[in-house]
Amino acid sequence: MMNYDTGSEEWKNWIISERSFNKKYLGKCESIMVLGNGYMGVRSATEEAYIGEKRNTFVAGTFNRFDQNEVTELPNAADLIQLDIEVNGEVLDLTKGTIHNYNRQLNLRTGELCRSFTWVLTSGEEYDFRFKRFISLVDLHLIGQKIEIIPRNCNSSIKITSGINGQLTNSGVQHFSEGDQRLYENKYLQLVQTTTESKIDFLMNMVHNFKINEQIFTPESMIHMDRRKIYFHFDTSVNKGQTLMLEKISTIQTSRDRNLGNISLRELKNISYAHLKKQSSKGYETLFIESVKAWETRVWKQYGMEIESEHEFDQLAIRFAHYHLTIMTPAHDNRMNIGAKGLSGEGYKGHTFWDTEIFILPFWIYSAPKTARSLLEYRFFSLSGAHKKANENGYKGAMYPWESAWLDDGEVTPVWGAADIVTGEQTKIWSGFIEQHITADVAYAVRQYFQVTNDNEFMNEFGFELLFDTAKFWCSRLEWSIKDRQYHINDVVGPDEYKEHVNNNAFTNYMAYWTMKNALAYAHLLKKQKQSIFQKLNAKLNLTKEMLKWEERLELIYLPKPTANNLVIPQDDTYLQKKEIDLTKYKEQDEVGTIFNDYNLEQVNEIQVSKQADIMALFYLLEDYFSSEVKAANWNYYEPKTLHDSSLSLSIHSVLASDLGDSNLAYRLFKKASTIDLGSNMKSSDHGIHAASLGGIWQCVVNGFGGIRVLEGQLRIEPKLPENWSKLVFPIYWHGDRLKVVITKESVIIENITKENKRIEFLNHENLYILIDKITIQHNHSEK
Ligand code: BGC
Ligand code: BGC
Repeated sequence: MMNYDTGSEEWKNWIISERSFNKKYLGKCESIMVLGNGYMGVRSATEEAYIGEKRNTFVAGTFNRFDQNEVTELPNAADLIQLDIEVNGEVLDLTKGTIHNYNRQLNLRTGELCRSFTWVLTSGEEYDFRFKRFISLVDLHLIGQKIEIIPRNCNSSIKITSGINGQLTNSGVQHFSEGDQRLYENKYLQLVQTTTESKIDFLMNMVHNFKINEQIFTPESMIHMDRRKIYFHFDTSVNKGQTLMLEKISTIQTSRDRNLGNISLRELKNISYAHLKKQSSKGYETLFIESVKAWETRVWKQYGMEIESEHEFDQLAIRFAHYHLTIMTPAHDNRMNIGAKGLSGEGYKGHTFWDTEIFILPFWIYSAPKTARSLLEYRFFSLSGAHKKANENGYKGAMYPWESAWLDDGEVTPVWGAADIVTGEQTKIWSGFIEQHITADVAYAVRQYFQVTNDNEFMNEFGFELLFDTAKFWCSRLEWSIKDRQYHINDVVGPDEYKEHVNNNAFTNYMAYWTMKNALAYAHLLKKQKQSIFQKLNAKLNLTKEMLKWEERLELIYLPKPTANNLVIPQDDTYLQKKEIDLTKYKEQDEVGTIFNDYNLEQVNEIQVSKQADIMALFYLLEDYFSSEVKAANWNYYEPKTLHDSSLSLSIHSVLASDLGDSNLAYRLFKKASTIDLGSNMKSSDHGIHAASLGGIWQCVVNGFGGIRVLEGQLRIEPKLPENWSKLVFPIYWHGDRLKVVITKESVIIENITKENKRIEFLNHENLYILIDKITIQHNHSEK
């Protein structure tokens, strides 16, 4: 069905394609071929409709809450893509007649989605169809479509219905009230829809232009308006061998668009109509070329990578990750963040998780620091929501929501989830209440950003406050245990969500400790070196008093240690005492979560089984806290018990395998992670792509194989290429400089391209190197 080696020559390893149509698997290509630009994302449903399709149009940050019983979600706005086509009375439908030469493909380099086939009807009539579409990376509001129909052996009466359809819902939930519809100049369609609770106006505009054999031509047309829908019926005759071409240009703007400022709906209508009119006059090809150039300069030249591998797929996989990381990220607006499914599906409701900070952000930090900063500013601006959550729970400081949407929403995790096979009721989702490590993850990301970029301005304005406010939360969260005279963190869910209501989850305790320790160090530093900032934050957060408390409590936080006999760190207070069962069946699954076919969550809670990396994630983040022996012993203990039921699991395991010196295992895990979306499983991406995993794939390559790491502010470059790779080239930004890293079997070459800094220090196998211009280090550790 899917083909990942279609491209050749200049398109080699740039193309993903579907070579036959199967209506059972519509979700696969809708998701993995989704188009977007960070402002919007449009699932790649086919032009003609099929039962079971998911037609989604999302605009980042336009959250709405349908009612009090549901959580805020990203609404599914009006569809602009669908076209109903009729040729000589037959409605285009790929399940009828015969299809030849079917190909649907996404070109990752240009961001264009193309589909072509010959349709042979039972009557013997034959038609060629070609569809193209793109979403502009230059004009964030613009979608272009081009459709060509050629009757090969007959004259044909062709009818097309096309327009703006606001009848869509989020799985039944209608987030919009009916708005105005209008036709301008007998040509330009406009539909307004307004979200019911957040009152965001969406302005959708569309124009159609036809040609026959390259000659502009106006078919007969009839305008229709319906509930939440405005559309044209076009009617025309096309002779045998002629090409009917339709160019459809659409735009979306909303009242949340920052560049529009505070304007009235009337003005917004005029602006958006004028915008469409101006842009569409350029035509599909010109608009498309503009976008292709932006892909080339802003994406591929900026952070493209070169991989020489025995398996061509590896290069494609990293490009696929780059493509999606680009289109999922609302880099244009620091009030917005990335959803766990990007903008590619309704899964996780457009909400932001720790997926951003721990899995996706490293890519941005090292590849485009400005975008990383924007994503962290979002966390700063959502402090109000974090304060609200802390308050509601009786804590101090900033307690970040497990799931986050609009800035001041606070916690938006739904409360009820999947079916409980034992009770028949819905399972309660505890993560919104007690999965608290997110608050440390955000702090961790801030420091990582600072260390890699040295962006003092960000820290002074946002970063330090965020570090102190999160430490304040953890300090208030600690619980004194009279029994062992230490501070505990009880009743949490750690990263491993198959263990609920546990005490002293190692990941959570260590990361809380780290947050407080790091905050304390920075607070002392500010007090000495940046008096005015210290004073400002002291006034706001009562720092002087907090610092005393942090100092006093830090060393009393209980940090689970490796057990003497086997070096295993207890994941929480009770994990190691739980029963062990044979997990082979669930480990070898193609689908995730099959253990729930046999047990409910309560029962899973009592088994030594993990959903995903937990202690392993801790080893990755705080690598210098643990020795290699401890890491290896825990890998051997926990990995066999980990089902990798979350897509966040494999990439962390891969980076750790690299750290532990097993590049072949690291490679196998990287490969597995890259096939989560880009593999042969036709159902795994139905609800959307796996954003964190795509960021994780980048980390497997750069932090794992490339061996890039920052440790206490020190850059380390220690590559470990997998056996079947002969070359890896990638850029990283370090303290504002762009470095080019070239790794081969023999050596690593690091070059400073921008040379803002005169010297860059880095470590390689415990040797300190100073990079001025270019440096070559042989893998046997000698410098050339
Ligand atoms: C996830 C949680 C999430 C919940 C609700 C579960 O499947 O594991 O992390 O909070 O869904 O979105
Ligand atoms: C995982 C979480 C993750 C969430 C969103 C869940 O299944 O367990 O760690 O944050 O999905 O991707």
